[in-house]
Amino acid sequence: MFENKASWSGLLALVAISLSVLATTGAMATVLPKKASDHTIFTTGYDGAINTWNFNPPSTLTKKHLSVNQTGTSPSWLEFSYSVKNKVIYSADESAPGRVFAFSTSSDGQLSPLGSSLQIQNGTSTGGDGPVAIVKGRGPSQNCIFVANYNSGTASVLKVSPKDGSLSASNVTTDSEGNQVVQPLTTFQFTRGDRGVGPVADRQDHSYAHQVVVSPDGKFVYVADLGADRIHILSTKDGCDSVEVSGEVVVPDGSGPRHLAFWPPPTPLGGGLKKSGKVYAYLTSELANTLTAFEQNPKTGELTVIGEPTLATPAGEPQSGEGILPTNRTTAEVAVSKDGRFVYVSERGDMVEDHISIFSRDVQDGSVQFQKWLPSGGRMPRHFSLSTTVRPSGPSVSGLVSDIGSQYKTEEEEYVAIAHQTEGNLVIMKRDVQTGDLEIVAKADGVTSANYAGFSPF
Ligand SMILES: *[C@@H]1O[C@H](CO)[C@@H](O)[C@H](O)[C@H]1NC(C)=O
Ligand SMILES: *[C@@H]1O[C@H](CO)[C@@H](O)[C@H](O)[C@H]1NC(C)=O
Ligand SMILES: *[C@@H]1O[C@H](CO)[C@@H](O)[C@H](O)[C@H]1NC(C)=O
Ligand SMILES: *[C@@H]1O[C@H](CO)[C@@H](O)[C@H](O)[C@H]1NC(C)=O
Repeated sequence: MFENKASWSGLLALVAISLSVLATTGAMATVLPKKASDHTIFTTGYDGAINTWNFNPPSTLTKKHLSVNQTGTSPSWLEFSYSVKNKVIYSADESAPGRVFAFSTSSDGQLSPLGSSLQIQNGTSTGGDGPVAIVKGRGPSQNCIFVANYNSGTASVLKVSPKDGSLSASNVTTDSEGNQVVQPLTTFQFTRGDRGVGPVADRQDHSYAHQVVVSPDGKFVYVADLGADRIHILSTKDGCDSVEVSGEVVVPDGSGPRHLAFWPPPTPLGGGLKKSGKVYAYLTSELANTLTAFEQNPKTGELTVIGEPTLATPAGEPQSGEGILPTNRTTAEVAVSKDGRFVYVSERGDMVEDHISIFSRDVQDGSVQFQKWLPSGGRMPRHFSLSTTVRPSGPSVSGLVSDIGSQYKTEEEEYVAIAHQTEGNLVIMKRDVQTGDLEIVAKADGVTSANYAGFSPF
């Protein structure tokens, strides 16, 4: 639980020094930190829009900008990152073929496209269909973007320019209609092998890659494969050009692994872990509606399950047939609080209202225990994030040092932003950092098909 303390206070000291240097030199006045209490939140939706929001505690939530038609038809996930020159946002377009668009962003949340004119117009191909999650590497993998292509059951690697954050356009091919396509660096095709169709036939007839997550040290990338009941492990320790499949974690048949979150969270400046620190991972399985805890072997990347998967609903709640989904209740997103004491899981498919489930986490052994669930304030909470947990990896301190001040506020994970896909709203909850409890403090309707809500680190 306390492993990160030293680096955090070190960082805050660095920030304080940097800010005082800035204050005395008067440099970069235009990018001085915004008001500490303000939060910028980006939402994406299946209507093609990326919206920028301002949340001003305790309860004022206002829309700042609408950016449509820059990110293809179905933006589904954003990744925040620093390059030497830019604050960068990558957007996955859940289209077929899938693609990623790169933007630089200013402190007011406006997006400016990065890359060649072809990339600006048509994106960079993800080498597969239906990308639903992207993540930037860190440490040895810091110049790669990893993509999970849901429909085709593939993961791909795209190369990033450390200078401006644009995606590599070194391989351009011509498709059957004569259009030029910017190709990814590598694509990995996953399969169910000779195991036939899985227990949930319509979701498990082949591999469906639902998320890519980087280990805290950046040496491994994990691909949650809902269709194959596997988590594939990619070794990324030799950089983007030498990524290889190095193992897999088999989870119960028909459980449908969807999302994974690591603890400890990424260290603030993209640095490595303290050597003694143990690493844990938490998996939501969509089809089984469970949360599973794992301990990671940092050498091999293997994950060993801790105890049994835990249902994400209170004991006695029906699992099936009562919700807006034709199937059982299903988990979606998962997040671990930075202090390591709580794990949050979003839960969909209820008859009346959907929920965020709160688990307590044992900081000694990493195990989790269901505590309670609370109405999430809408239907289909597909994604949520904790304030200040979204951190860029490997920022270039020079030139952007004042932004690091705005990124690491003294308040910590005091809020949760939730995107409700069916309801079409963005909900802000206040988090009691002592008890882990949540309370709705703001809500904005009219966020069509909201599928992602991320606190901006910028
Ligand atoms: C997006 O672009 C298309 C084609 O140019 C146009 O038909 C559509 O109205 C635009 N959508 C929005 C929301 O502006
Ligand atoms: C982008 O793709 C469309 C069709 O998919 C094509 O008509 C257009 O020429 C492409 N843009 C560029 C710059 O190649
Ligand atoms: C370019 O991308 C295509 C499609 O992924 C691939 O077949 C080809 O090998 C790549 N070429 C180079 C030079 O990397
Ligand atoms: C719902 O969950 C129960 C208990 O895990 C399981 O027996 C049943 O098959 C599931 N139903 C569906 C539709 O997935």
